[in-house]
Amino acid sequence: MKIILLGYMGSGKSSVGKVLSEAINHTFLDLDLEIEKNESSSITELFQKKGEIYFRKKEREVLESILKDENDFVLSLGGGTPCFGDTMKFINKQEGVLSVYLKASNSALTDRLYTEVDQRPLIKHLSSKEDLNDYIRKHLFERGFYYNQASQMVSVDDKTIKDIVSE
Ligand code: S3P
Repeated sequence: MKIILLGYMGSGKSSVGKVLSEAINHTFLDLDLEIEKNESSSITELFQKKGEIYFRKKEREVLESILKDENDFVLSLGGGTPCFGDTMKFINKQEGVLSVYLKASNSALTDRLYTEVDQRPLIKHLSSKEDLNDYIRKHLFERGFYYNQASQMVSVDDKTIKDIVSE
């Protein structure tokens, strides 16, 4: 089984993915890290030097090449990966792939992301917690359309990684 974890930045895709992959003895892959390897550049640098559209094309290309792999894996997507073009449809039509939306609330995401805004190209211009909260609320509303097309959803607020993995 190939498992794809998706959800907003800060929803725990990578932390959950690592623990889940160990629990079920699958390889763990993180799409952002795979892109960084392929491009020999950090995501922040890619956004700065080549722009978001270039990054979105790379996300899709690298996702497609990972999905050609015959072996099972747990893959954590970037927060925006499912939200461009027909990527969510593309994921859902793959055989043997389970997509799981890690759903976190606006307030939990704001608390988690507030201390990390400088490391994240999309939100680094937001300096106050109110602005961040506002941004996430609108963005999550837009992205929810795509995230909700995942085959399964797990609410992650107030749960430990262990609980999320067993769910
Ligand atoms: C993004 C999320 C990031 C990374 C990039 C864009 C997004 O990944 O792909 O900064 O559009 O939400 P994480 O969700 O793993 O932080």
